[in-house]
Amino acid sequence: CGIVGYIGIQDSKEILLKGLEKLEYRGYDSAGIAVSNNEGVHVFKEKGRIADLRKIVDLDVSANMGIGHTRWATHGAPSQVNAHPHQSESGKLTLVHNGVIENYDMLKREYLQEVTLKSDTDTEVVVQIIELFVNDGLEVEDAFRKTLKLLKGSYALALLDNENDETIYVAKNKSPLLVGLGDGFNVVASDAMAMLQVTNQYVELMDKEIVIVKKDQVTIQTLDGEVVNRDSYTAELDASDIEKGTYPHYMLKEIDEQPAVIRKIVQTYQDEQGSLTIDKDILQAMNDADRIYIIAAGTSYHAGLVGKQFIEKMAKIPVEVHISSEFGYNMPLLSEKPLFIFISQSGETADSRAVLVEIKELGYKALTITNVPGSTLSREADYTLLLHAGPEIAVASTKAYTAQLAVLAILAEVTAKSRGFDSNYDLVQELGIVANAMDVLCGEKEEFEAIAREFLSTTRNCFFIGRGIDFYVGLEGALKLKEISYIQAEGFAGGELKHGTIALIENGTPVVALATQESVNLSIRGNVKEVVARGANPCIISMKGLETEEDRFVIPEVYGLLTPLISVIPLQLISYYAALHRECDVDKPRNLAKSVTVE
Ligand code: G6P
Repeated sequence: CGIVGYIGIQDSKEILLKGLEKLEYRGYDSAGIAVSNNEGVHVFKEKGRIADLRKIVDLDVSANMGIGHTRWATHGAPSQVNAHPHQSESGKLTLVHNGVIENYDMLKREYLQEVTLKSDTDTEVVVQIIELFVNDGLEVEDAFRKTLKLLKGSYALALLDNENDETIYVAKNKSPLLVGLGDGFNVVASDAMAMLQVTNQYVELMDKEIVIVKKDQVTIQTLDGEVVNRDSYTAELDASDIEKGTYPHYMLKEIDEQPAVIRKIVQTYQDEQGSLTIDKDILQAMNDADRIYIIAAGTSYHAGLVGKQFIEKMAKIPVEVHISSEFGYNMPLLSEKPLFIFISQSGETADSRAVLVEIKELGYKALTITNVPGSTLSREADYTLLLHAGPEIAVASTKAYTAQLAVLAILAEVTAKSRGFDSNYDLVQELGIVANAMDVLCGEKEEFEAIAREFLSTTRNCFFIGRGIDFYVGLEGALKLKEISYIQAEGFAGGELKHGTIALIENGTPVVALATQESVNLSIRGNVKEVVARGANPCIISMKGLETEEDRFVIPEVYGLLTPLISVIPLQLISYYAALHRECDVDKPRNLAKSVTVE
């Protein structure tokens, strides 16, 4: 979910709605705003997208302050009633919330026996308890503070009092939240992108802080009332980076940006002599480690699987890759000197953050590889490597994945050098070849559209097979396809399909096979024969030098370990066109959110 708030001189409705549109990537199953003027608070909320909310906002209500929310449902189905903002029984208090209150059921039983709740949300419990304390005689600020002390779980909260049109009360724990500063106005946002339209000056908030936001004053305090002074920073985002320009979808724009992103990464990680370089403290941490644990979710997890190959093969340090949501309660036996690497496009994924908090408590060091400077995972880790991919807006991740691979390759290579392992290739040059190959692939869109039409326009399911590094790319290809086209897709190690899943192969079932590795080229082609014998419709994507006549597409040749950076591009584009043919919402697929800030 995402939240925004504005207090100042202008009418707040349009600022809040525009802000929510920028936060839609965090969730888009329902949305709402509450604006406040001297007549009190006016709430508008609706199931669906911000566009649906726009239709019901009363343009005649003018108000210089307000809060807004776009939701990715956790407690309670997506509906108008469960949409935020939520109000207390008397309507005095109005609240938006991002996060999950873990003890809401207990709080409900303890404090709200007498109150009839309107929604199924944990958020309504919070606002009702604040009102209860106000009814007991506390000022709103003190009632808010007292309630915050009872909450277990994650929250970013913004609260309005309908008898006070000069204050937004804000608090944060675990969920991301920033305060933006303006001249005669101030704002609140889950991320700076949302309010870039009005300011680029932001103040970070820390967990368990409460903030009193007025139009010309922002006061940050700890829960115990101690005032905190913190400097603001300039968000270095370009508003044009978050527009889609002439592209029909962000996803297509972001796929096309990949060659430029790779070139930018190489440039950024080069020193004045043109050699690749990594911060020396990070190198030290890599060298001190006897084992690396990569923690990530979704596409970033798939990048981690490839990253393991890079680090083990180049730098010769053992690596384990773990899904963040599993790691917390299923922690493997750790080595003596572990280093943790968190890979996260957004830097906000709550599952990963939970692991970070845990391993920091154990006293271990962490490096975050992220696209978002200043994100939670970046701030809370010891070190950060940035992806420099520019904002990624489409929910299905594309350029962040290839950027993650490029940064992991550079990290592995520079670490290898520092350990005295010399390579017989020049990574700067090889990544340049990769970027050129990406250009070639992005110019072949018609071909990928044809493949999507031929193989995927009516199918119910699709399998991706590969061996070694191709297997990991197949996992990512399957994830892309299911995320945006809703075709059931699975990635398998070439040899594994026959141990069960081959039972699903029917006449015409598409099987996409990747053949980019010489060492397994013959075996993967053998696996293709096995599925073809059972009726499968094979789509072999091979690399130049390994191609045969049966192949459907041949990608340009790049350095063996780096093939995932380009073999993924056909899979991204095929998924894109499959989703288009099936008339799916490419950038905002159902049930998903780009940045999942709840565990
Ligand atoms: C969500 C997105 C995925 C993404 C995953 C991890 O589930 O829908 O596309 O890969 O989160 O996100 P992160 O920002 O941590 O890379």
